[in-house]
Amino acid sequence: MEKELETNSRRYFLRNTTLVALSTSLMPLKGMANVLGQNKSSVVCNETTLDLYGQGPFYTANAPEIAINQLADLNETGIRLIITGVVKTLDCTQVIPNTLIDIWHANNAGTYDNTGFNLRGKTYSNAQGYYVFETILPGKYLNGASYRPRHIHFKITPPGFPTLITQLYFEGDTDIPGDAAASVTSGNFDATSRIIPITLNSDGKYEGTWDIVLNGDGITGVQDINLNKGIIYSASPNPFTNSVEFNYGIYNASSVTIQIFDLEGVMVATLDESFQQAQKYSATWTPDPNLPAGIYFSALKINDLHVHYLKLMKV
Ligand SMILES: [Fe+2]
Repeated sequence: MEKELETNSRRYFLRNTTLVALSTSLMPLKGMANVLGQNKSSVVCNETTLDLYGQGPFYTANAPEIAINQLADLNETGIRLIITGVVKTLDCTQVIPNTLIDIWHANNAGTYDNTGFNLRGKTYSNAQGYYVFETILPGKYLNGASYRPRHIHFKITPPGFPTLITQLYFEGDTDIPGDAAASVTSGNFDATSRIIPITLNSDGKYEGTWDIVLNGDGITGVQDINLNKGIIYSASPNPFTNSVEFNYGIYNASSVTIQIFDLEGVMVATLDESFQQAQKYSATWTPDPNLPAGIYFSALKINDLHVHYLKLMKV
């Protein structure tokens, strides 16, 4: 029983601790323990559900691959929105790289491009199971007498496994309760875990995290987040231009490294590779000025385990 609770609380973290939340606040260790304690009994790792409305009428096959993570052109009207997440196996203990994620949604006015591929595109989870794309907040459109809540459509296909077709919604949308699909709270079409919070980041864009849990072949080692071993408290400034300072904590004397990866999973930097005692540290990364702008992931590696990831944006 105790072991089960432990596992469940860890899954709670995997599922609910967003990169955004951790990156914007210093979370004291005591507070974190409380969070774990409070949620022990209600925590599960849930398979991502289908949407009641399925694919809907506006899918177009053969959308192009998204270039530099921008689903929406920079001149597309609307509020910019970045969605990131990790594709995970059904028990949330492994990540699934190279998962095809086919995305489409309405424009700011609630209209689909049904002749071309605007706001339609494909991306893949990277070597660490992460995916990211930047777009605009979709507009609402009438479905009968009422508006459908803002939503993004997904067709998600892990290598060698069936495709999951579903939709993503946003917390606080007043049209969710009246929507036949978004209001489902149980069963096969339960939308609860597909309604995500979005928050304004320091770059003036909305950001949301959505982890996708489905049947597929996972890999171990990169998503074994063990926040009881250590944590990156903060990386600032983020977004950054010239350099980033990491503040991190180690709870047991260990061999410690901070590694930086690009979206393809290629390691672009290694910081602070040394044996360190249990305490708080800081480390600064000043990348080569020629490093391309974009999104990177920092990983705190303790012994041979990546214990915590944090997203970085170079502008
Ligand atoms: Fe739709």
